[in-house]
Amino acid sequence: MTAYFVVRGTVEPGDQRGRELGFPTANIALSDQAGSVGDGVWAGWIGRPDGTRLPAAISVGRRPTYYGADGYRLLEAHVLDFSGDLYGETLVVWLGAHLRDQEKYASAEDLITALKNDIATAAQWTAAHPAASLPEGGESPLGEVRRVAG
Ligand SMILES: Cc1cc2nc3c(=O)[nH]c(=O)nc-3n(C[C@H](O)[C@H](O)[C@H](O)COP(=O)(O)O)c2cc1C
Repeated sequence: MTAYFVVRGTVEPGDQRGRELGFPTANIALSDQAGSVGDGVWAGWIGRPDGTRLPAAISVGRRPTYYGADGYRLLEAHVLDFSGDLYGETLVVWLGAHLRDQEKYASAEDLITALKNDIATAAQWTAAHPAASLPEGGESPLGEVRRVAG
């Protein structure tokens, strides 16, 4: 049995750096800036409006590598093995396993090394926790994080 943090949100344009780094992300605003879910990196799933569920490596936090402590809290999902366009879609995001804390990296190369590792771990975790076992996302307000037992 796995407990998930679940949040719904509409994908907003980011600053396109993720694409430059080679790891595009779907950016979702979080309404609770204090946060029931702590900052960190997670393995989990996203659900699209058409019902498709895709595995993802997900970052929650202020991106200290680029914004110091002053950034706003954001959820960013890098969908594994996916090259489509998610802008404007309202997604459900399930955060299943906390992989590590947010780090301030000295260089883009160091961040990329960490991202590759996160993606490999998220691929393993999602393979072991398939989408069929996810709890229902529900209809909570956009950006509001809830804890749901799976
Ligand atoms: C799995 C994952 C882990 C991340 N970990 C960190 C981190 O530890 N520190 C950090 O500053 N940013 C982290 N990020 C955020 C990246 O800095 C961010 O995706 C990048 O700057 C692109 O931003 P953009 O989508 O607004 O272009 C992570 C992103 C992902 C997808």
